[in-house]
Amino acid sequence: MKILLVGSGGREHALALGLHADTACTELHVAPGNPGIAGFAQCHPVDISSNAEIVALAQKIAADLVVIGPELPLVNGVADDLRRLKIPVFGPSKAAAQLEGSKTFAKEVMADAGVPTAQSFTCTTRAEYEKALDSFGAPYVVKDDGLAGGKGVVVTHNRQEALDHAIACERVVIEEYLNGPEVSLFGISDGNSILAMQPAQDFKRAGDNDEGLNTGGMGAYSPLPWAPSDIVEDTYKQVLAPMIAEMNARGTPFVGLLYAGLALTDHGTRVIEFNVRFGDPETQALIPLLKTPLATLLFKAATDGLADEVLEWKSDSAVTVVLAAEGYPSAPKSGGSISSVPSIDNVQIFHAGTVNNGQGLVASGGRVLAVTGIGSDLTEARDRAYRSISQISLPGSFYRSDIALNASVAEKGN
Ligand code: AMP
Ligand code: GLY
Repeated sequence: MKILLVGSGGREHALALGLHADTACTELHVAPGNPGIAGFAQCHPVDISSNAEIVALAQKIAADLVVIGPELPLVNGVADDLRRLKIPVFGPSKAAAQLEGSKTFAKEVMADAGVPTAQSFTCTTRAEYEKALDSFGAPYVVKDDGLAGGKGVVVTHNRQEALDHAIACERVVIEEYLNGPEVSLFGISDGNSILAMQPAQDFKRAGDNDEGLNTGGMGAYSPLPWAPSDIVEDTYKQVLAPMIAEMNARGTPFVGLLYAGLALTDHGTRVIEFNVRFGDPETQALIPLLKTPLATLLFKAATDGLADEVLEWKSDSAVTVVLAAEGYPSAPKSGGSISSVPSIDNVQIFHAGTVNNGQGLVASGGRVLAVTGIGSDLTEARDRAYRSISQISLPGSFYRSDIALNASVAEKGN
């Protein structure tokens, strides 16, 4: 099977390794890919904001399957263009991608599907912002209604800051604050059925102890030793299955990866957000643990269906730590040179924002590398990840030192 994977980040590097490891994958092409991916797959310089360029490449290589990594091409409807040409694609249609593209749309579908989420108002005027902020009280949660790369959300006790964010975004969703640990739970869907993956946790703030600005994600780990034992089953029943059924009933079936960002509150599980693609960096922790051959799995989701399919996992734990460039997330500095990347057993290094400038590897994005340690428990996985990342040098770069720390302590106590 010839596969075209679209994207260039750490998530795509992890997906590419997973696809490549499946013997059913005979040729792996990535558009545009990155220097890490170029070591084992064929990379093509494609502008992924152009549906036409993606479709032309899929046709040129006669792809049997196209897997779309990032949200932008999905929201742009590239999956529809490919399906029109009868090319199997793992990734939702433009209509279904609105679950990530519009927070208001996601809220409407959740309401119709009976899926638990924060109460909210969509607001467009100052009077509406103020009314909504005051009806919920602090802490205030204000979300840009459109795509914002994980950075359109402000959670604050400061009413003025909340109001300023609303004014800057214009159309916003203002919602109830959800208190409780956050979990990322992914489901792989063929449009009718959905397979829940094991849960992961992502660290969104730039600094240790969840201080600093919101980012795309500074680290992740899986599994979650502290999570309720029925979390997968519960999320499947309360969230994933009803969403797939509702999207189907609306005539816009969801084929692809449905990412449920959950808060486990005292009142039960609540959806914080949906994304319509694999999460980054959770994917860098999950894919190394997945035993089920990935290419075959995603091909089935895109074609005949997933009925009777089950996911199999290694019993190991994985901890992913992101190396970010100086100034991330507000003004990441590019161009810094990256020292040779260490090779340690049970560690995988994923390129997220790097380019080869002819002389060597340099940083080209906010999140530069993601380092995943694999071990028999979180403590061992953390040790390996941190031992490896501490050997990489990139001037001014930083990483969080507390990824999976609390969970590894809790695990020891069990
Ligand atoms: P989102 O882009 O919707 O994932 O939001 C980014 C982050 O903001 C989430 O991971 C949460 O940490 C936080 N957040 C979003 N919505 C809420 C909420 N209703 N209550 C508490 N925190 C929230
Ligand atoms: N891990 C957060 C995201 O992928 O949006």
